[in-house]
This record gives sequence, structure tokens and C-alpha cells, in this order.
Amino acid sequence: MKLTNRTILLTGGGNGIGRAIALELARRNNTVLICGRNLNTLDDTASASDNIYSYRCDISVSEDIEQLLAAAASDGHKIDTLINNAAISGHYTLAKDFDISIIRRDLGANLIGPIELTQRLLPILSQHHDPVIMMVNSPSCLLPVADIPFYSASKAGLHSYTWSLRKHLGKTMKVIEIFPPAVDTELVSKLKHKKMSVKTFIDQMFQQLDQGKNDIWIGESKIMRAAVALLPFKLIFNIINARRSDGGKWVEP
Ligand SMILES: NC(=O)c1ccc[n+]([C@@H]2O[C@H](COP(=O)([O-])OP(=O)(O)OC[C@H]3O[C@@H](n4cnc5c(N)ncnc54)[C@H](OP(=O)(O)O)[C@@H]3O)[C@@H](O)[C@H]2O)c1
Repeated sequence: MKLTNRTILLTGGGNGIGRAIALELARRNNTVLICGRNLNTLDDTASASDNIYSYRCDISVSEDIEQLLAAAASDGHKIDTLINNAAISGHYTLAKDFDISIIRRDLGANLIGPIELTQRLLPILSQHHDPVIMMVNSPSCLLPVADIPFYSASKAGLHSYTWSLRKHLGKTMKVIEIFPPAVDTELVSKLKHKKMSVKTFIDQMFQQLDQGKNDIWIGESKIMRAAVALLPFKLIFNIINARRSDGGKWVEP
């Protein structure tokens, strides 16, 4: 698959992995439309390349998605590639009170938004001869990290949807799923665990994309995949969740 001279819609291009993907794609002579809630960080990414255009869009809000696609079309962009990268995460203790509204916010950003955006874009993507959809997922789609329960649940849902999507689309569209390990971004700033640099991650991700892979497992995410395949689920779940991911102990209610 050639990742050049495409028109790519990338969610969450203002920060972290999304920003680095945007810059690499722009360097490869693609037109990259980035979106997110914070126009300042998006514009900062866009200022680094003439090939990057920023659009404000909260993907958990249906009207925002409609407006994003209308604005991109009226600006003359014919999208042939979608990268669902944006996500949000948070630590919650389910047995204690927390702001219930975050459930819809997190599942909206991580699961419902990406699915809605994908479904709305399918007719547009299918007008091109080799359209591509990429999902930036997480190994937590296979094995829940219990103290980020809504993130884990939404990534499991996204993984399930991705497999169904592949079945529905057959050979008409390439659907790629990417599984980063812990990468040094704001999303995992509380995580007490060795993290891969964004640059190393991007180098390895694009190396596998250039090789034409559809399932891109990087670094420790490969170990997680192997452990889930080989070991009893309960055992590996308890090993992964022996301590909270921020290094703290579980707080009993
Ligand atoms: N970093 C890791 O260790 C790691 C590990 C496994 C998987 N991943 C996956 O990699 C992807 C990128 O994560 P990251 O580490 O780069 O995170 P990040 O640095 O926190 O960036 C997340 C991006 O998502 C955007 N976003 C969040 N909610 C949004 C919403 N409702 N609508 C539109 N944009 C939204 C944010 O932009 P705004 O704030 O401007 O909206 C931000 O640009 C995610 O899918 C994540 O699950 C990351």
C-alpha cells in the first residue's frame, strides 16, 4: 500500500501519536486533515507543514462530525483515507462515586465517535480505487486494564467493530488496526511503566505499514497478544491488574 499522495482524515492530530503521524504523512506528500477539540494545538501541528489542515471537531458529538465532513468537502478535499486515532482515558474507581457523565464522554470519543465517523465516511471513501481505514487501538482491547475501565471497554468494542467492518468490506477497502505499547504521551502520563518514545513508535509503525501489514503490533503489545493467546484469561488478567497502572494499590471500598 502506498502512503503517499493521499487525502487523509486523522482524528486527534494536535498531540502525541496523532501529531507525529500527521507530520510523517505530510512529509510523505499526503494532504492531512487533522481534527480535535482544541484548535490551538491543531493549528500548531498544521503550522509545521503546508500539507496539514486543521478542523475543530469533538468526535463524540454527531453534529461536529457532520460539520467536519461538510467543511472538508467544501474546502475541496476528497478523503480517501481515515485514521481513527483520537482517544481519551481516565482512572476511575467503579465502586466509588464519580461523575457519571464521563461514561458517555469517553465511550463517545473512543468508540461511538470513531464508528460514526467511519460509517459516515464509507460512501466517500468508496469513491476511490484503494481506500484505507486505520484504527489506532490498544492491547487493552484484548485484556482490560481495570483502573481505566471505560477506555478498556471502548477499545474492546472498537476491536470488535473493526473485525466486523473487515468482513463487510471484503477486498473493497483495506482496514488496518494498530496496537501501540505504552508510548510517551499525555494520555499515559500517570502510567508508571517504561514507555517507548513517540519517534521510535512512529518509525516502527510506518515500517510495518510500508510492509503492507494489516495488524500492527509494536513493542510490548506483542507480548500482551502472545500472553492472551497462550495463557488462561483469568491468570493474565490478574497479573496485568496486580497493581493499579499508576503504581498505586487497589483501594478497597
Ligand atoms: N500513548 C500510549 O501509551 C498508547 C497506548 C496504546 C494505545 N494508544 C492509542 O493511541 C492513540 C493516540 O493516543 P496518544 O497517546 O497520542 O494520546 P494523546 O496525546 O492524549 O492525544 C489524544 C488526542 O485525541 C484527541 N481527542 C480526545 N478526545 C477527542 C474528542 N472527543 N474529539 C476529537 N479529538 C479528541 C485529543 O485532542 P483534543 O484534546 O484537541 O480533542 C488529542 O489530540 C489513541 O487511540 C490511544 O488509545 C496510545
